[in-house]
Amino acid sequence: FSISAKAKKEIEKWVAKYPDGRQRSALIPALWIVQKDGDGWLPEKALRLVGDMLGMAYIRVYEVATFYTMFNLRPVGTHYVQLCGTTPCWLRGSDELKDMLKRKIGAQNTLSKDGKLSWLEVECLGSCANAPMVQISNSESDHYYEDLTAESLESVLDDLVAGKEPKPGSQSGRHTSEPEG
Ligand code: FES
Repeated sequence: FSISAKAKKEIEKWVAKYPDGRQRSALIPALWIVQKDGDGWLPEKALRLVGDMLGMAYIRVYEVATFYTMFNLRPVGTHYVQLCGTTPCWLRGSDELKDMLKRKIGAQNTLSKDGKLSWLEVECLGSCANAPMVQISNSESDHYYEDLTAESLESVLDDLVAGKEPKPGSQSGRHTSEPEG
């Protein structure tokens, strides 16, 4: 594993925003940049390299990387599903989505047989009005799919795996918080 020159430059820009001696304040953006620059997850070597860049012990980097679900410490599928399981989504049927994901992909944080899908249950993603919802990320984008049923989510996943581009936002056709374009 190595950090690309482009990613290093981006990290340096973040470091420059903070006073001298406070380069560790750039840790969260640095981890995010390295995760996006690589395969969507952070192997131990990546955490060590970020620590070296910011003058931080590995354990300090590890503490932060393990606290936030936005950082993946295991390989993720080409399409990585984060399922909101917080109360509004739960009341609106997130357990049914979860059962479908378990059946289709397997346990949380494991890859589907073809490596194209993986999933994780996370806390509120701020789109409660259109519950239940998921965020699906790949190397190019992060999209919200909302107002889901197990069937509509499965159909979104089938389309993604088939290389199609299912329209993000509400899957029932009502107002969505997914930005246009
Ligand atoms: Fe699911 Fe807020 S509870 S998005």
